[in-house]
Amino acid sequence: MSIEKQRINIAVIGGGGREHAIIRALKKSPRCGKLWALPGNGGIEGVENVECVPVKATDLEGIVRFCTENPVDLAAVIPDDPLALGLVDLLEAQCIPCFGPDKKAAVIEASKAFSKDLMKKYGIPTAKYETFTELAPALECVRKHALPVVVKADGLALGKGVIIARSHEEAEEAVRAMMVDEKFGQSGKTVVIEEFLTGPEVSVLCFADGKTVVPMPSSMDHKRALDGDRGPNTGGMGVIAPNPFYTPELQKQTLERIILPTVEAMNAEGRTFRGCLYFGLMMTPDGPKVIEYNCRFGDPETQAVLPLLESDLIEIMLAVHNGTLDECEVRFSDKACCCLVLASRGYPLSYPKNQEISMFVFEPDCGPYDIYHAGTRYLEGDYFTNGGRVLSLVAVRDTLPEAVAACYKAQENVQFGAKYFRTDIGKRALDELERQKQL
Ligand code: AMP
Ligand code: GLY
Repeated sequence: MSIEKQRINIAVIGGGGREHAIIRALKKSPRCGKLWALPGNGGIEGVENVECVPVKATDLEGIVRFCTENPVDLAAVIPDDPLALGLVDLLEAQCIPCFGPDKKAAVIEASKAFSKDLMKKYGIPTAKYETFTELAPALECVRKHALPVVVKADGLALGKGVIIARSHEEAEEAVRAMMVDEKFGQSGKTVVIEEFLTGPEVSVLCFADGKTVVPMPSSMDHKRALDGDRGPNTGGMGVIAPNPFYTPELQKQTLERIILPTVEAMNAEGRTFRGCLYFGLMMTPDGPKVIEYNCRFGDPETQAVLPLLESDLIEIMLAVHNGTLDECEVRFSDKACCCLVLASRGYPLSYPKNQEISMFVFEPDCGPYDIYHAGTRYLEGDYFTNGGRVLSLVAVRDTLPEAVAACYKAQENVQFGAKYFRTDIGKRALDELERQKQL
């Protein structure tokens, strides 16, 4: 090999704020060659000047065709659907190296019944549960269950397949909606009914190659639409990293009892996981427990975690693919990051689109921040809203209070019709930091 290592051309599959953050990180690498996004979004095209190819992330045939007809050295498959559908298997069969798990490993997210059984078999702490494929026993279970009771659709449901029922009637209704009315299609044919856990939630994304697992800084998503964790569940309204509830002692317990055993369990099942493995955790009074696994980078967690990465993301992705993560430098800064999502009012239900977005600087002392696009369209130099979550504003600072304050200042610089955001992103985390200071 020549002294200067070869440049790498990368196709990034997906088109949200998370993919924008990934592309920004890839572009920092001296090895970054040509980039494509399939389908990408307005910011990936207009801000990053990355060629956006109008092929949907679920159009597996179209993606394979594109990657074989173009000089793609690495395909980074980011969203859950193509991973669950086996895009990585199809691309690797065509000798296109991928970052992302194959179909057998992606099942850790694609089937909650699978992941719950895995945890039970390998003694990984999680909520007690039962799985049902028949209506009558499922109804009988929820009727007798302690309240609140959690009803989950087995398959992918855009993060909306979880109902926390406060009454037996509500739980029965949720079971019927999934199993009879097929509200989540095939995803709800099997339901998982589980005990309700309490405690602060922590998200931990990890790079994993089957032998080595490297946790990234922890984070905290804010999933509900309204302040005070009220209103419907969304894809996420903001994130802070690192998460102060994830103390060094809890990190150690989580690594020993959850993260390492999960990677080993997947190997033992012949489902070696290579990619980004996401642990959705709850710090319960009995210690850390798994709420869910995702087989991919979280959105919007990625927007708050990758800005802290100091090492080369291309080298990391290649090492994950090659199984050499143990030889790769993966270093994060010890600063703090806040990501504030700007959404269209009404999200996640109905909301207006096609509102012109203006971004200007009238807040001179806001300091540096990044903007990652999610639901935007780029048209001849202008940006228009094109989705529920429109933009993420991201600020890295020495401390979390500074990062949160910087995001809220920065949002004044961005205007569009029906702009909406939560005003309390990071509040719980800042209160916890204050509490820890008093100790
Ligand atoms: P999931 O899609 O599995 O992450 O669930 C969505 C959200 O529902 C989680 O982030 C939790 O806030 C909540 N949740 C899920 N399972 C439980 C549980 N067993 N106990 C309490 N809350 C839960
Ligand atoms: N933010 C949660 C997820 O990506 O599933």
